[in-house]
Amino acid sequence: MSENRRLFVCINQKSGVGEDVAKALKKELKSQGLKKIFSAGEKQRVRVQTCNCLDLCKQCKKGPGAALIVYPEGTVYGNVRPADAVELVTEHLGRGHVVKRLHLDR
Ligand code: FES
Repeated sequence: MSENRRLFVCINQKSGVGEDVAKALKKELKSQGLKKIFSAGEKQRVRVQTCNCLDLCKQCKKGPGAALIVYPEGTVYGNVRPADAVELVTEHLGRGHVVKRLHLDR
């Protein structure tokens, strides 16, 4: 059974940066042709969804960026800004590498 990938982006900041991050991720997935990927022998769809607080507020509300979680692997990123979308899509979704500078080890 194929499991889709989902990026949940917190939009609970006053600045609206989470919305901008989600838009940038969607745009980048489209431009890199990664809305559908082949992983672990299966075709998967990649979806970006906005959500409320992920209980990572220290890395979200108090910084310049937003928190996000990638499922199903559960990788957590903090202080993500729209300009980080290219690297996150290229490295995490395209190459399967965690972006260490944004990764939160919970
Ligand atoms: S406000 Fe974004 S994780 Fe809590």
